[in-house]
Formats: sequence, C-alpha cells, structure tokens
Amino acid sequence: MKKVLITGAAGFLGSHLCDRFIKEGYHVIGMDNLITGNLSNIEHLFKLKNFEFYHHDVSKFVHVPGELDYILHFASPASPIDYLKIPIQTLKVGSLGTHNLLGLAKAKKARILVASTSEVYGDPTVHPQTEGYWGNVNPIGPRGVYDEAKRFQEAITMAYHRYHGLETRIIRIFNTYGPRMRLNDGRVLPAFIGQALRGEDITVFGDGSQTRSFCYVDDLVEGIYRLLLSDFAEPVNIGNPDEISMLDFAAEIIKLTGTNQKVVFEPLPKDDPKQRQPDISLARKLLGWEPKIDRAEGLKRTYAYFKSLSPDELYKKEHNTFEGYIVK
Ligand SMILES: NC(=O)c1ccc[n+]([C@@H]2O[C@H](COP(=O)([O-])OP(=O)(O)OC[C@H]3O[C@@H](n4cnc5c(N)ncnc54)[C@H](O)[C@@H]3O)[C@@H](O)[C@H]2O)c1
Repeated sequence: MKKVLITGAAGFLGSHLCDRFIKEGYHVIGMDNLITGNLSNIEHLFKLKNFEFYHHDVSKFVHVPGELDYILHFASPASPIDYLKIPIQTLKVGSLGTHNLLGLAKAKKARILVASTSEVYGDPTVHPQTEGYWGNVNPIGPRGVYDEAKRFQEAITMAYHRYHGLETRIIRIFNTYGPRMRLNDGRVLPAFIGQALRGEDITVFGDGSQTRSFCYVDDLVEGIYRLLLSDFAEPVNIGNPDEISMLDFAAEIIKLTGTNQKVVFEPLPKDDPKQRQPDISLARKLLGWEPKIDRAEGLKRTYAYFKSLSPDELYKKEHNTFEGYIVK
C-alpha cells in the first residue's frame, strides 16, 4: 500500500484530498495544527485503518516514522481574512514549513507536490495568466505575506529539484469552492451564500466589475491527482477558466438562494486583483485535464452543504483558538 502524507489535512482542500487518496487505496497520514482547519472535515476517516492523524505545526521539524511515497503540502492559511490576521504564521508555513517538508521528502526519497496559488501572479497585467507570466506582486502590501510566501515556496521547491534531484510538483491553484469551505473565511463565494442564508444584504466590493473564475473542488482534486502522477516538475495552473464579474455572480447567488436582499457596495480592499482567469492549456496538454463541473452544478452542491450547517455555524464569527492565540 502506497503511503501519502497530506499537510493541511483538516482544511477544505486537504480533507477532500484525504478522501480521494483513501478511495484510491492509499495509506493516508493527515497532518494539521488546526489553526484554520477543523477536525469535523475528516472525523469520518478516523475509524479507518489506513488513516492516521498527526496534530502538528509543519513550520516546526516534521518527523514521520517509516516509508513515505508521496507528500502533498497543503498546510497554509489560504483566505485573505486568515492570512491578514496570522501573517507571520503564513510566512512561516510557506517558507520554513515547505523547507521542512522538502527535507522530509529528500530523507524518505518521496515525491512532493506543493500547493501554490494564482496569487503568485498578484494583480496580473497579462490575461489570462499562463505559467510563463512572472506576476505583479507588491511584496510589502498586506497580501504580500501570502503571495511572497508562496513565491518563496516555489523557488525553494525548484531549488530542491535542481540541486538535490528531488521529485517535485508545483500546482498553481485558482479559486476553488465546494463543501467544507468555511462560511466566514472572507472569500466571496461563501460570503455571498452566508449573507443570503442569514437574510443580509449581499456585499460587493468596488463596482463589482472585478472578475474571478471558480473551480469546483472535485475537478481540482482530479487535477492534483494527475499532476502528482505525471513527470512534470514546473508549475501547472489548475482552475476553471469560466470567468464572471462579481456583480453578475451576486445575481447568480440571489437567484440560487431565492433571497430578497439587495446588493450593497463597499470600497475595494487594497491590492485586490481586478481580473483572475487561468490559462489551462498546459494542464490540458500535459494531464488531459479540464474542469467537468460547471458553476450551476457546483453551486447547487455547495449551497446544499451550507444549508445543512447548524445556526451556530451560520452565525459564527470567530475562527479557531490556537495555542492561546484567538483568531477572530
Ligand atoms: N482554496 C483555494 O481556492 C486555494 C487557492 C489557491 C491555493 N490554495 C492553497 O491550498 C492549500 C489549502 O487551502 P484551503 O483552502 O484548504 O485552506 P484551509 O484554511 O481550509 O486549509 C489549510 C489547512 O492548513 C492547516 N495549517 C495551516 N498552517 C499550518 C501549519 N503551520 N502546520 C500544520 N497545518 C497548518 C490549517 O489548520 C488548515 O486545516 C493552501 O496551501 C492554499 O494556499 C487554496
């Protein structure tokens, strides 16, 4: 049985990856410090013999006994609300955490795939973004803590590949959505659905002309799986190129949820990217991958999940408590 270590296992993407690798017959070791994740995302796996969980901060030395075939490094705060509130931890997990996991991969002769992001393109001046575009990032802006951590992560991953001959994979993930996202994580999709479910007005930043493109989580997981098993070491974009303006998206959510609320406008946050759309030609060619689940279907599934949450979850404003540090 192949063994895979998944960091960030209790988070949104990590938990779906655990499910997928269990389904594929792997022995899965989940690792998480629960700073933004929640054990409820993976508690259904605890009864399985081929699942283990380590409560651990990967920015500290990482030890896993025995052999390992693959490492998927997904630990990192991922939403602006999180990384703006825990900037140092975000920088550490992208840098020290990645270094620790590359070291572990080297020691175990394992292949490692690291989760990078479309944020490495910053506020792009090229549209849509191909992997060859180097980005437009403000290193000292508030979002720099995340963007630069991920850019460093890519740099050190390529250095381990070139210098140590380590088998590495880098995925640049564009906005992904689906069940197990947190309603209060500050990302636009759960924010709109949460507002609709609570009967609040839908808040659009700026004039709503900025665009995003959303990939359903099952499509992303398929892309990750294929990339891991490929032999390509350079970054690959995975996302859904179907782009929509935030104003049109608000209208879609209002229709989906049947809410009577109106759209209200607030100032655009600093360094908010105006346009985001992946060029996925490389993933198509290399992995034979493209998204299969359209927004109508993905939103239906995601809305069903959010509707099933308890009122406590729906009105929860606070994040987790971590070693005495309260993330509000
Ligand atoms: N969701 C997206 O649309 C998206 C887009 C681009 C990139 N990504 C990347 O994918 C990964 C997962 O994102 P997500 O949306 O699932 O976020 P998430 O916050 O739901 O999950 C991240 C998980 O990592 C854990 N974690 C954070 N720091 C840690 C540390 N030092 N040690 C151990 N565990 C730690 C958290 O507790 C959480 O469970 C991140 O690396 C993120 O940058 C996500």
